[in-house]
Amino acid sequence: MTALDPLFVPFECKSLKLTNRFMMAPMSRYFSPGGIVTDAVADYYRRRIEGGAGCVITEGVAIDRPGAVAADTIPGFCGEEGLAAWARLADQVHGAGGAVIPQLWHVGGCADFNYPDSPHPPLESPSGLVGPGVEGGKPMTVADIEAVIASFVRAALDAQRLGFDAIELHGAHGYLFDQFFWEVTNQRTDAYGGPDIAQRVRFAAEVVAAIRAAVGPDYAIVFRISQWKVYQYDAKIARNPQEMERWLAPLAAAGVDIFHCSDRRFWEPAFPDDGDYNLAGWAKKITGRPTITVGSVGLDRELMEDFVAGQSRPTLQSLDEMARRFDRGDFDLVAVGRALLADPNWLRKVQAGAVDELLPYSRETMNELY
Ligand SMILES: Cc1cc2nc3c(=O)[nH]c(=O)nc-3n(C[C@H](O)[C@H](O)[C@H](O)COP(=O)(O)O)c2cc1C
Repeated sequence: MTALDPLFVPFECKSLKLTNRFMMAPMSRYFSPGGIVTDAVADYYRRRIEGGAGCVITEGVAIDRPGAVAADTIPGFCGEEGLAAWARLADQVHGAGGAVIPQLWHVGGCADFNYPDSPHPPLESPSGLVGPGVEGGKPMTVADIEAVIASFVRAALDAQRLGFDAIELHGAHGYLFDQFFWEVTNQRTDAYGGPDIAQRVRFAAEVVAAIRAAVGPDYAIVFRISQWKVYQYDAKIARNPQEMERWLAPLAAAGVDIFHCSDRRFWEPAFPDDGDYNLAGWAKKITGRPTITVGSVGLDRELMEDFVAGQSRPTLQSLDEMARRFDRGDFDLVAVGRALLADPNWLRKVQAGAVDELLPYSRETMNELY
């Protein structure tokens, strides 16, 4: 019996049925020329399931809306050819015994950080801002908002029709949903803005409610949140648990089944004055919904330090702490990003305690799909 054994048990939430609690975290790879996901990408995801992960959350995929993403090698979740490729990918992952969830994405006003010169349609955002004093995107009209809601619904229905096990909405890291949440980027004076997070959550809650009405009660909807943003790492949507409740309760009421809570280091407390619970711990306490934790699982550097240093070494040190929090009931699922990107067999090796065999994550890892 190891500390991790309790994580190797099945999980079920509506349409989402998993063999264990480990998921691949969503990671953009830019290997989909013309926005069509390739068979090589499907193979790459299938290998993570063969290596032991219960589920893949795909890289962010564009909804059917001009400017939803800002690089032409990010896959779109739309069009006959594009959706046929996604159906093949889902078959590959299912064939290996895993589940697969597309992460539906609209970047709002953010140009692509990795490919800032990539051609893209004009961008849109709540108030023409992506950070403090940083302009990005055209301020959205109510008609734009309604059209984006309709695009999210179309993507969710396509995911359900093609057999994906659930959908995830990318509400984290400073992109469209988060631009509505954050007071800095949402300066609207209509019903989609206001000084209270309970007002700024309205757009996201309307998207979730519209999807729920379309897909029915039994299809799982995952919503990803974060406090941190690419434009400001120490930004806070919720400064305390009370604000977090005003943020998440409307989303839960609209139909979110699972909150995916993106921390950069999963062991850091979300509200240090109120105990050691991380974002996933608080989301579960507040909403009662299952949660996913993420952030530096199995690595010695967090995401942004890694961009500077260029390499993270595998370590199993943090896994005992992760298991302790899981046993306490803080979260139900664990997403693993860079460690799984670097090593398709990460989970099997971890389960066997074969730490010496784990492959490190480095910048070069990003150059190929394997
Ligand atoms: C190369 C790369 C691409 C990423 N792309 C996405 C993305 O498309 N959507 C998203 O929500 N997060 C994205 N992330 C963040 C990861 O999902 C994850 O939250 C982060 O890497 C922390 O987990 P880790 O420490 O296990 O890597 C990306 C991270 C990396 C390293």
